[in-house]
Amino acid sequence: MLRINSIDINGIGPIFNLHLDFNQHFNIICGSNGIGKTTILECLAESFCGNEFSLRKNSLLNSGDWTIIIKEGDNATQYSKKVEIDSVRPNVKNNKGCWDLNNYAHYVLFYKINRSMNYINLDSISKDPNYNDYEYSNQLKSGTNYSDIKKWFLNRFLWSKHERELSEEQLYNLNAAKGVFSYMAQGFDFKRIDHETNDIIINTPKGEIVFEQLSAGYISFAIVLLGLIKDIEYRYKKPHIKVSDFDGVLIIDEMDVHLHPELQARIYEALNRLFPKAQIFTSTHSPHVIQVAEPNEVIPLVADSEGNVKINPIVNTMYGCKGWTIEEILQDVMGMKDTRSALYKEYLEKFNSALQDDNMDTARSIYEKLNRMLHPDNVLRKVLEIQLIGG
Ligand SMILES: Nc1ncnc2c1ncn2[C@@H]1O[C@H](COP(=O)(O)OP(=O)(O)OP(=O)(O)O)[C@@H](O)[C@H]1O
Ligand SMILES: [Mg+2]
Repeated sequence: MLRINSIDINGIGPIFNLHLDFNQHFNIICGSNGIGKTTILECLAESFCGNEFSLRKNSLLNSGDWTIIIKEGDNATQYSKKVEIDSVRPNVKNNKGCWDLNNYAHYVLFYKINRSMNYINLDSISKDPNYNDYEYSNQLKSGTNYSDIKKWFLNRFLWSKHERELSEEQLYNLNAAKGVFSYMAQGFDFKRIDHETNDIIINTPKGEIVFEQLSAGYISFAIVLLGLIKDIEYRYKKPHIKVSDFDGVLIIDEMDVHLHPELQARIYEALNRLFPKAQIFTSTHSPHVIQVAEPNEVIPLVADSEGNVKINPIVNTMYGCKGWTIEEILQDVMGMKDTRSALYKEYLEKFNSALQDDNMDTARSIYEKLNRMLHPDNVLRKVLEIQLIGG
């Protein structure tokens, strides 16, 4: 088992000074564009790289570093790694970096923001790659590759037809992968492998399609989950493990890219269900993810007037944000200044000042505009009417 307990970041990218303690299961970082979410995830991932980093020091400072505290297994021993990065150029070699966490790289998977998949023409079934810790550590810098999902799926599907070729764990993982397609949306499921093209065929309410023809949102949902299942299986060969037993670290930048609000919440649930023993680090711009998250899983970042990034303590209540509306989350957790349009606010202000000035004709004409502008069920309409009659 590998857990990351905390990180201290000083002068890396946009972050001057930040200490974060982590939850043992889910850690969901949110905050405005450019606040440093990806930087934090990259610091976590690159802690397990060798001595070449893609991260850079803050350009106003002379150097940057970060310290990470990890825990391995039930053994409470903690390791700390301090990496100093004194350049603003990417991919510099840095001999001050320590190599001691490199051998944990196989416990850590990092999915960067890119979620696209072009059609892959598979001529034949092929065997699994044999990566070592050096390659895993490189994958933590470049991000894990999705392109061999189809190759993995085809191999496992065909061998599953031969008795005793796949282990119990591999069959479990294949079923988990098939389940991803049904979990995506109603009416979707894995149908078959086309024997002429080697394509994965998905059943949808509008007919059968090839895996790569799924829409951008469904592809994004599927490749994160299938990619994680595939990569975990590639890493645990002796012995095989069920993905539900994976107890390492998964880092996923923006787990909700391209997803409709319903799927945004569902990918959180799917990660929980598929990888209940993993420690998961992710970033999000989705209030829906924050709403379904458990208490202490959300790390809401805000910047103070000097640009220092801090945690906004507002969500650390007994129920997290489960009782909050999306609007309340947008304003108080995600830092959106306003959830109403400028035009709406302008009309509301004009309505109130017309009432104050006893200018009932103007008030009535603005009420008509607001009446047409508001959501059909908005109770404010009634309140405005009462004000108008009372005025
Ligand atoms: N070397 C640097 N020195 C100072 N600021 C930097 C440096 N490198 C990047 N930045 C700032 O950090 C920002 C990128 O940070 P990061 O990618 O971590 O943000 P993010 O929270 O993930 O944002 P988004 O929501 O847009 O993905 C850039 O917009 C830039 O302003
Ligand atoms: Mg980012």
